[in-house]
Amino acid sequence: MDKKKNGFASGLGFVLAAAGSAVGLGNLWGFPYKTQEYGGAAFVLVYIACVLLIGAVTMVCEIFIGRRAQANPVTAFKNINPKFGWFGVLAILIPGFIACYYSVLGGYTVRFAANSFNGNAGTMDEFAANGWLVTLFTAIFIAGAIFVVMAGVKGGIEKASKVLMPALFILLLGTAIFSLCLGEGVAEGLEFYLKPDFKKLGGTEILAAMGQAFYSLSLGMGAMIVYGSYTGKKISLVKSTGMICLFDTMVALLAGFAVFPALYHYKAVEGAAFDPSEMKGSTLMFKTLPMVFESLGIVGKIVSFLFFAMVVIAALTSVISLLEVVCQFVIQKFRFSRKKAVALLALICFAISIPVGISAGGADVKLFGMDLLTFFDTVTNTVLMPVCAFFSCIAVGWMMGPKKAVGEMERDGQKLGFFRPIFMFMVKYVTPLLILAIEILGVYELVFPEGKFSGNGLGITLSAYGLLAVGALVYFLFFKKSDTGTNADEK
Ligand code: PFF
Repeated sequence: MDKKKNGFASGLGFVLAAAGSAVGLGNLWGFPYKTQEYGGAAFVLVYIACVLLIGAVTMVCEIFIGRRAQANPVTAFKNINPKFGWFGVLAILIPGFIACYYSVLGGYTVRFAANSFNGNAGTMDEFAANGWLVTLFTAIFIAGAIFVVMAGVKGGIEKASKVLMPALFILLLGTAIFSLCLGEGVAEGLEFYLKPDFKKLGGTEILAAMGQAFYSLSLGMGAMIVYGSYTGKKISLVKSTGMICLFDTMVALLAGFAVFPALYHYKAVEGAAFDPSEMKGSTLMFKTLPMVFESLGIVGKIVSFLFFAMVVIAALTSVISLLEVVCQFVIQKFRFSRKKAVALLALICFAISIPVGISAGGADVKLFGMDLLTFFDTVTNTVLMPVCAFFSCIAVGWMMGPKKAVGEMERDGQKLGFFRPIFMFMVKYVTPLLILAIEILGVYELVFPEGKFSGNGLGITLSAYGLLAVGALVYFLFFKKSDTGTNADEK
């Protein structure tokens, strides 16, 4: 059995593809706006601590789980304990749902890149409300992902990542340097971004930083299990994890250097008319930054194009990984050809993304008081993602046990070094507990926003847990006793 037949050709290819999954809208958009919303530099420090303390440990677990199985997440969890193969179903369902709303946002970024020379300022609301246009750009974005995933892991995902990731990094570096050279206001922006004020740090801020770290690193969503399954024994778990975390964090930090000086420069020029603390969610990327670019004349148009091209790349390499998670399972369990699996799943994703896009544009399509995009995002990220990340840690830290897990890694020639004792302790006690805290506090905030009960919050939470129950049921009814395939089953 040629286990590497469908895998990455090189360690670098794997690291770049995994970094491609990790680096996405979460870094370029989520990180700066959350930094703004949750208090600046103190948030950044907590974020870095979360990446180091809980993100890296969980990532090692996920890559390890995938790699030892050389198979999809269902088979991978089944190999650890057949009673818990349903963890894998969850790890496939979550990315499936994320892909449906992520593609809509990807479509937005394509439109903003394409429209840079006409000027994007003030166009967001009208664009988002135009269902046809949103659907068109979502389709263009998904087509890009189809093109890459159809070409396979080695010939598509790895090749694309090797070109796109360096390009993204260069574009980001260029944007950050440009932003730092704007002059007036830059110092104020840097101060906000870099000078910590720990008085601003409370439970909400810490929780937000932990959640952001997990989302940004693509953890708790099957992606690292799947990409891990395509690696061979030669790749160092610790080094690869270190590089992926470093790359992801560097991109997030650089995004801050690109955004804050430009915002505060704009503020200095525009005066009191503009308050950077007012931008939340999509406002920063699709309203505020276009205004900043517009104020810079023709140079601003060029920078806008390059900036949004970079965001498209980041979003594309992320959605590719989301699509791959679901495709891998369909290929292996149902013996579909890759082309057929990609075509079918992309079509389903596109069909779901249409109402999501229309709802996000302000149409009266709502679930539990939320537009569908926010609903999908909340169900997957606030409620389900920590559950799935928790399972990954529990599978390694408790079902296998740290001794057995580390023993197995070392038998495979892994050199864990100083990371060994840290990992053994963290994976059993600290990391699962912290993830559990993210889950409990996240759900609490959803059901009791500002201390008051919310029926909608409860509805969202129950929908998410309902989905989890359906996943488990499907597993026990259909997958537990049957063969769920491995990478070797892909023709
Ligand atoms: N990590 C991506 C981001 O920061 O935008 C989002 C993501 C991609 C999450 C792929 C999960 C995933 F499997």
